[in-house]
Amino acid sequence: MITEVILGILLVILLWKACLKKPAGLPPGRWGLPLVGYIPLTSKSMEDQLLDLNKEHGDIYIWRMGTQVMVFLHSYEMCKEAFARQEFTHRPDWSFFTLNEKVALGVGGSNGSQWHTNRRFTLRQLKDQGMGKSILVSGIHEQAEMLIGKLREQAGKCEAVPYAVRVAVVNVIWHMVAGMTYGVDDPKLKEFVELMDEFNEYSFYNAILDVFPWLKIIPDFIKNRLFFLDKINNADTKFMNYFYEVIEEHRTSLDPDNPRDLIDGYLLEMEGADQEEVVRSKKDLAILILDLFFAGSETTSSTLTFAMYYLAAFPEAQRKLQEEIDRVLPGGDLPTLEDRARLPYLEAVIHEVLRMSSLVPGGVQHCATRDTQFAGYTIPKGSIINSAAASIHFDPRYWDQPEKFLPERWLSEDGKFCTKREGFLPFGVGKRVCLGESLARMEIFIFIAAVFRNFTISSPPGSLVDVTPNPDQPMFHIPRKQDIYVTERK
Ligand code: HEM
Repeated sequence: MITEVILGILLVILLWKACLKKPAGLPPGRWGLPLVGYIPLTSKSMEDQLLDLNKEHGDIYIWRMGTQVMVFLHSYEMCKEAFARQEFTHRPDWSFFTLNEKVALGVGGSNGSQWHTNRRFTLRQLKDQGMGKSILVSGIHEQAEMLIGKLREQAGKCEAVPYAVRVAVVNVIWHMVAGMTYGVDDPKLKEFVELMDEFNEYSFYNAILDVFPWLKIIPDFIKNRLFFLDKINNADTKFMNYFYEVIEEHRTSLDPDNPRDLIDGYLLEMEGADQEEVVRSKKDLAILILDLFFAGSETTSSTLTFAMYYLAAFPEAQRKLQEEIDRVLPGGDLPTLEDRARLPYLEAVIHEVLRMSSLVPGGVQHCATRDTQFAGYTIPKGSIINSAAASIHFDPRYWDQPEKFLPERWLSEDGKFCTKREGFLPFGVGKRVCLGESLARMEIFIFIAAVFRNFTISSPPGSLVDVTPNPDQPMFHIPRKQDIYVTERK
């Protein structure tokens, strides 16, 4: 009897040590139970809970969610150091990133030489197509004119930010990827944008299965109903077929001496590919294109929408912006990149909107490729590293009166724009920093100047535009659906 009791106690101790007790050396935080991790019994939002954990444990802590050890970093310095390290450069092998491929393809979810080669290729191609350069400006101006036309139609009415904002941004990517753009009323484009929305909405459910992978044992028909897998697969297939069609059109008209766009660039590189460990295929190219649309379209159009909301909510800032635009571009021309230095208040508004809207509040997940010592703790292999970007953007260590919308914080005493980097990471930081940052910046710069040169945007009479993010979207800060009031300027 005594032997059984002792064995029983030993078993409990072993189980506790092996599964329940947080291993020594890990950062402080929430550990919870095997398989499920720590499930909080609170109605608080995830972001508020992270702020509580930050207060309790400091700038680095963990939260085991399902089977995944999540590490959260709340200081800019830590994010900068972590994401410069090779060990933290990978993406997790979640189906959210791999899209169910055995080896993740494309650029946003891939790793190792696949990622390295595709990142270098994409950056070079986007630059060749005009990212950050004057040759793309006329293409963006065309979209800005289209947007002005649509806003003019809604002048004097209370309506939502026009769908034309989405079209403008999507068209700039199409232009660089495939040398084509769509008309604002084109049904094919509408279908494409709706498909992106569907994919965005349902991908979140896919991520739940990544965090609780044992849920995959549930029979398929139940899983499909719970996690909308059919919808995601259906959207994925439609995207692939769509891109394959465009790639085939490019293949048949390819002139090796005259590459027209990113697709041509890839097809030419495919012919000369000699690196065995790197996949060069139609599927890789299609996933790379998908990555650009997903990473680059809703982010940019949401920033533009947030800018309209903030400037409607802060009319004094809007007035100052319009004064600057009128002074610098008196003929009503759209700005070029050379005008940037002469429009410091516009730059300041863009930066303040990016800080306050914090579109990607927890950054995009990275994964530790081996046990690593970081900030005095052990970060086990497989841990998921998250930057608490939204919290850093409101941290008084970096920002004076962080809750206030103050474009002036970005200006020197003599009114010049100062690029402040400490505590500012809307595009991430380190080796995987957003590769479309300068494209996004030039689009936002031109579109905002175009809109506020021609219109005043205000809250609908009797109400106030709500600048806080839509609470229905847990992973990203997206603007709420609401009306604005547009007045055409004389
Ligand atoms: C305001 C607009 C944008 C914001 C706020 C934004 C933000 C981000 C963030 C936070 C990341 C993750 C960085 C990391 O993993 O540490 C990222 C990655 C990425 N972004 Fe952007 N982005 C924007 C626009 C764009 C545009 C216009 C493009 C291209 C068309 C683009 C392409 C990408 C790609 C391909 C990645 C993955 C990079 C990699 O994994 O190596 N983004 N972006």
